[in-house]
Order: sequence, then structure tokens, then C-alpha cells
Amino acid sequence: MKKIFSGIQPSGTLTLGNYLGAMKHFVELQDDNQCYFCIVDEHALTVPQDRLKLRENIKSLAALYIASGIDPEKSVLFIQSEVPAHTQLGWMLQTVSYIGELERMTQFKDKSKGSKEAVSAGLLTYPPLMAADILLYGTDIVPVGEDQKQHLELTRDLAQRFNSRFNDIFTIPEISIPKVGARIMSLQDPTKKMSKSDQNQKAVILMLDTEKQIEKKIKSAVTDSEGVVKYDKDNKPGISNLLTIYSCCTGESIEQLEEKYRDSGYGEFKQATANVVIETLRPIQQRYEELIQTEELDTLLDQGAQKANADAQKMLIKAKKAMGLGRVKKKK
Ligand code: TYM
Repeated sequence: MKKIFSGIQPSGTLTLGNYLGAMKHFVELQDDNQCYFCIVDEHALTVPQDRLKLRENIKSLAALYIASGIDPEKSVLFIQSEVPAHTQLGWMLQTVSYIGELERMTQFKDKSKGSKEAVSAGLLTYPPLMAADILLYGTDIVPVGEDQKQHLELTRDLAQRFNSRFNDIFTIPEISIPKVGARIMSLQDPTKKMSKSDQNQKAVILMLDTEKQIEKKIKSAVTDSEGVVKYDKDNKPGISNLLTIYSCCTGESIEQLEEKYRDSGYGEFKQATANVVIETLRPIQQRYEELIQTEELDTLLDQGAQKANADAQKMLIKAKKAMGLGRVKKKK
């Protein structure tokens, strides 16, 4: 049985990109693996957050995980800040990280554009915390979207460095990126990834958008003037993105879809794409509405935190021992 770990930031309502690139695949992994799924609230602090909104987003993300099919009986679902071992190991891994390698992270470079005075140090030191999330559980595989690839490579480097410098305690995790849907693009600028933090709401489909909103956003998605439904990422990024979204929602291949819509205009294809997105999200939204009203969520999150704390503590003890922290307790 392999160990799986992945996390999502509660920094706003999840997008269709989060779902198709990551969450959807978590569900498929639960039956045959030991899975840990985390609401990484401490990561969300790297950019300013409204206290009450953050609380709400944490709960909402927990409900979305379950509504999407994460079964707390099978997987450990928990909130990062309720398992202190994450920040403890995160600090230890910061001390084996180099400033140069952290400054080379694309996400840091993108988010820290402009004045460094206004950029939190947490934005720079976020990848060792992410490495700690993963390494604490002896993770074999990390399912993520493509934008996390560089952070995963750093996690592997840090684990290897720690193992060779101190003691061989960490499993070197493999990254798992879906073949289709690893990078869902913005509907308004299909050369940019679809992102929770996009200021233009028309660019992003949220998992809790209404049917009307979804339809409107897809209908106004930027395409091209050729009028042919064909996958060509470089020359037709808008249509290629919609084909990817469609394919992820129904499981039909891009080739099958090109054939199906060979004689259709963009209007018809966009309407069909909106329909499959609506059908995909509808059952999740219904289950979400039921869950968010109940107290069941708190009980499930308490159980998740308890299990995660017990498992994480074992690795934390090994890491502290390897680095020489604290005391060796004499057996009485
Ligand atoms: P976050 O919260 O930005 O995104 C959560 C997951 O969604 C994927 N994703 C996408 N996939 C396809 N297309 C998109 N447009 C798209 N946007 C986001 C992300 O790749 C990710 O898998 N650092 C992480 C959270 C994290 C984590 C971890 C992940 C913290 N610790 C440990 C894995 C393991 C993040 O910010 O993801």
C-alpha cells in the first residue's frame, strides 16, 4: 500500500482547475492507498488574509473535499495548523534549504514582483514547509497540478540532502501529474493558468458557481477566429483549453471530441462544454450544501487531526533525533 499526500490552500473558493488538476484524482486513489489530504491553512498566510474569511474558507474547503468524494473513513482529512509537527519540521527543513534555491522558485518570483518590502518572508520559506507536509508521512506519491512540479523537485532535493547529511529517514516522494488537465488555463487569457487569485472573475470558473455563471463565463471565453474545433495549444490556446476541460469532465479523448464537433461552430461547442461542466459540478455542489449546514464536519476534522498528529509525531521524533535536537530520554 502506497502513501499519498496532497494539500490545497484555503485561500478562496476552489476553481475548476483545482478540481480537474488535483482533487478529482485524489478520489480515485483512496481505495488502494493510505491517503492524507490536507487543508494547508498555514500556507495561506503567506499572503494577507482576512481572519474571518480564512476561517470560512477552511470549513468550505473541508466540505468541498468530502463533497468531491473524499471519504474520511478511508483517507485522513485534516487541517495543517491542527498538526504542529508541520511547522516544527518545516523549520528544521528551512535550515537545510539554501536562500538561492528558494529565490529561484517561479511562484516566489511571480508573487514577489515589485517591492520586496511588501513581500512576506513566508512566501520565500514556503517550499520547506510544503516539503515538511509531504515528508512527515513517509509519502510515496504526491498528486498535484503542473504548477507544483518545481516545489516537488525541491522537496526531493531537501529529503535527499537531509538523508545524506543526518540519517536516512525520509522517503523520496514521486510526483504524479495528470496527463490531461494538469494545467487548466484562464478563460480570458488562455496563456495563463486559471487561478483562485485572478482579479478578473470572468477568467475563472469556481466550483461553487451557479449554472448561469458557468454558462456565461464559458460562452465569453476567449477563442480565435478560425471557427474550427481543433486542439492546437500554441495557435488555438482558448479552444484547446475548452477541449481539455471537456475531456476531463467526460473522459472522452481530445481526438473523439474533435471528431464529435468537426462540423460545429464555437457557439455550439461552448454550450456543450458549459453543459458538461455543470453536470460535473452539480452533484458536488448539492452534497456541499448539505454538509456545510451540519456539525458532522467538525467531528470528521477532529478525527483527521488526531490520526495525522499520531502519524506525524513518529517522523518528527526521528528527525529531531537525527539533527540532535532536545535530549535523549533515559529509560527508567
Ligand atoms: P494550490 O492550493 O494553489 O492548488 C491546489 C492544487 O490544485 C492544482 N491546481 C491546478 N491544476 C490544474 N490547473 C490549474 N489551473 C490549477 N491551479 C491549481 C495545484 O497544482 C495543486 O495540486 N503549494 C500547494 C499546496 C500544498 C501542497 C502541499 C500540495 C501545500 N503543501 C503538499 C501537495 C503536497 C498549493 O499552493 O496548491
